[in-house]
Amino acid sequence: MPTTVRALQGDITQLPVQAIVNAANASLLGGGGVDGAIHRAAGPQLLEECRCLGGCTTGDAKLTQGYRLPAEYVIHTVGPVWHGGDRGEPALLASCYRRSLELAAAQGIRSLAFPSISTGIYGYPLALAAQVAVSTVRAALEELADFDEVIFCCFSARDLQVYQRLLAAPPGAQPSSA
Ligand code: AR6
Repeated sequence: MPTTVRALQGDITQLPVQAIVNAANASLLGGGGVDGAIHRAAGPQLLEECRCLGGCTTGDAKLTQGYRLPAEYVIHTVGPVWHGGDRGEPALLASCYRRSLELAAAQGIRSLAFPSISTGIYGYPLALAAQVAVSTVRAALEELADFDEVIFCCFSARDLQVYQRLLAAPPGAQPSSA
């Protein structure tokens, strides 16, 4: 069965998927935006586990339990801060999506939701980031079998529109990720 890839508008902390991805920072010790929302919803045990992980480099990802979240796992990834696009941001952002999917596959996770990594506090333009997100996930799923569903969880209706437009276009009809 091919993996269903879709976008929806909502709060990622509420989604009944096996794992959600967190747009974290290198400390993995919490922050604002979706990171803050995930820590609030998961409860203090999430921070306790994160303290033991020793941080995470930009473009990489680490896995924890989900605690009080509906999701069993959280995959914490660190997106790049946008500096104009010529400091390797597209490749680093692509790496966040790819590493998250690799970790999920290694854990046997079958359903996964991503927020729009780097497009809030880190300032990555949404339209550019969404292109990287969709093309990287599509490419990674060609190699990593066994996912039932991958969701792009958009916080705003505007973001959702951008993702839905990209997902409606056939693979290859968009600029490549990096
Ligand atoms: N569900 C889904 N998406 C959300 C939610 C939510 N509950 N809350 C926010 N978003 P951001 P970044 C969207 O700023 O740009 C933190 O302090 C938001 O609208 O959360 O990668 C970390 O600790 C936007 O579209 O993450 C880092 O320091 C997207 O999630 C830094 O922010 C990402 O916005 C990371 O910045």
